[in-house]
Amino acid sequence: PKHLVIAIDGPAGAGKSTVAQIVAQRLGYTYIDTGAMYRAVAWESIHRGLSSCDSGGIASIAKNINLKLSYVNGMTNVTINGLDVTDAIRTPEVSKTVSSVAQIPALRQVMLKMQRDMASSGGVVMDGRDIGTHVLPGADIKVFLTASIKERAKRRWEELSDKGFDVDLSQLESEIASRDKQDCEREAAPLVKAPDAIPIDTTNLSIDEAVQQILCLCEEKM
Ligand code: C5P
Repeated sequence: PKHLVIAIDGPAGAGKSTVAQIVAQRLGYTYIDTGAMYRAVAWESIHRGLSSCDSGGIASIAKNINLKLSYVNGMTNVTINGLDVTDAIRTPEVSKTVSSVAQIPALRQVMLKMQRDMASSGGVVMDGRDIGTHVLPGADIKVFLTASIKERAKRRWEELSDKGFDVDLSQLESEIASRDKQDCEREAAPLVKAPDAIPIDTTNLSIDEAVQQILCLCEEKM
């Protein structure tokens, strides 16, 4: 069978990483969480006390750190120069900063190259915001995953509560909305559905139903 390249994009909390990870597992493919890569750079820039306006400094972080993604028990483990930042990159603080950092064109350029290299041998599921439009425009399958803002906020709330963060649902909703706005309105590789991406609205779908729909698309191409 062919080693497909699968691109999954969409706004925060639409279920991309959960769904993409299971699809990858079922197909025996590599899963690449590009949001985790931007989060890692955002975390490192906070850690070093850089302002999110320091484009040069932030792009050079991406060039110089040793960023590693690995997958353990269905979770993306992230290390920066050997330091485990898996949990640190998911804090509300990083979530609030990451979209400003991700606007920097010089940073996106570095990420684009890394992400293309990671996908070069095929057999990958990559999720993010600009995968189908910029990173892997020739992907065999492109999916644009969405869900209502209410449902996305609820999912993030459950995720954070499970980790012991005490967050307010309506505040979370407005933070997600503002991140979406920044991601959609930025100049460099904004969040937009690729014309040839298949839209899947997960508001009323179970994880398994979304996975099945994508696996069906894959079968047609294998
Ligand atoms: O996917 P996740 O919500 O973890 O991504 C965090 C942020 O990283 C997004 O809100 C977006 O600003 C940025 N991002 C991006 N391009 C990608 C993936 C993530 O700009 N391909």
